[in-house]
Amino acid sequence: MSSFQNLRIVDNFYQTSLFFPMPVVIISTLTEDGKTTCGPCSLIQPFYAAGKDYYAMLLSARSSSNTAQDLIRRKRRVVNFLPDRPSYFKETVRLGWPGDAPEEKMKDFKFRFEKGRSAEEDPEGTYPMVIREAVQALERTWMDTLDGAESDQPLAEGQDHYELEKYHDFNGITSPYGAHFVLRIDHILMKKPCHDAIVNGVRSRDFPRLPVDCG
Ligand SMILES: Cc1cc2nc3c(=O)[nH]c(=O)nc-3n(C[C@H](O)[C@H](O)[C@H](O)COP(=O)(O)O)c2cc1C
Repeated sequence: MSSFQNLRIVDNFYQTSLFFPMPVVIISTLTEDGKTTCGPCSLIQPFYAAGKDYYAMLLSARSSSNTAQDLIRRKRRVVNFLPDRPSYFKETVRLGWPGDAPEEKMKDFKFRFEKGRSAEEDPEGTYPMVIREAVQALERTWMDTLDGAESDQPLAEGQDHYELEKYHDFNGITSPYGAHFVLRIDHILMKKPCHDAIVNGVRSRDFPRLPVDCG
C-alpha cells in the first residue's frame, strides 16, 4: 500500500498543490519613458544551460504585469538577487502588488540603483538599472525570434488579457493571462566576496543567504 496521498492537480499547481521551493528575485525593466521599474518574481530558471549558441533562462509571468509588458516593448531586463533580510523581503513583497503603476510603487523605492555592464559598454543605449543591494545580477535580453514571438504586441489601453487566435507554445504570449520569456544571459554581475569564492573555490560559509519561497 502506498505511503502517499493523492492530490488534485489544479491551476498554479506549483503553489496550490505542492511545496515547491523557488528563488525570490527582483526584475528591473524599462517603462515606456525609459525609467527603471521593479517587480518580484519566482518562476524563473535556467533554460539553455549548454550546447546552444547562448545561455538562457525562462521566466513565466502574468501577461498584463508591467514586467511582461515592458519586456515586450523594450526587450531588456535585469534579474537582481537580494540577500535574505526581513527589510529587503518586505520591500520585495510591496513591489509585487498587481495593478500598481510603476510611478506609484517606485516613488517609495527603498533600494539604490546603479548602472550595469551593458550601459557601460553602450553609453548611448538605454538599459534597466541594477539594484546596488543585490549580491548578484543577470543582465538579459528577450529572444523574441524564438517561437515566432517577434510580432507580439503590448496590450491595448484598458485591456487586462490577450484574446488571440493562436498562442505560442513556450515564448511570448502563451495563453490569455500568461507569458513566457526565453532570456539570453548577456552579463553576470557579482559582488566581490561571491565572485572570489567562485573563482578561488567555494567553501560552505561562502554561500550567500538568499530567500526562497513556496508560493
Ligand atoms: C515573492 C513573489 C514572487 C512572485 N513571482 C511571480 C512570478 O514568478 N511570476 C509572476 O507573473 N508574478 C509573480 N509575482 C507577482 C508579481 O510580482 C506581480 O504580478 C506584480 O504585479 C509584478 O509587478 P509589475 O506589475 O510591476 O510587473 C510574485 C510576487 C511575489 C511577492
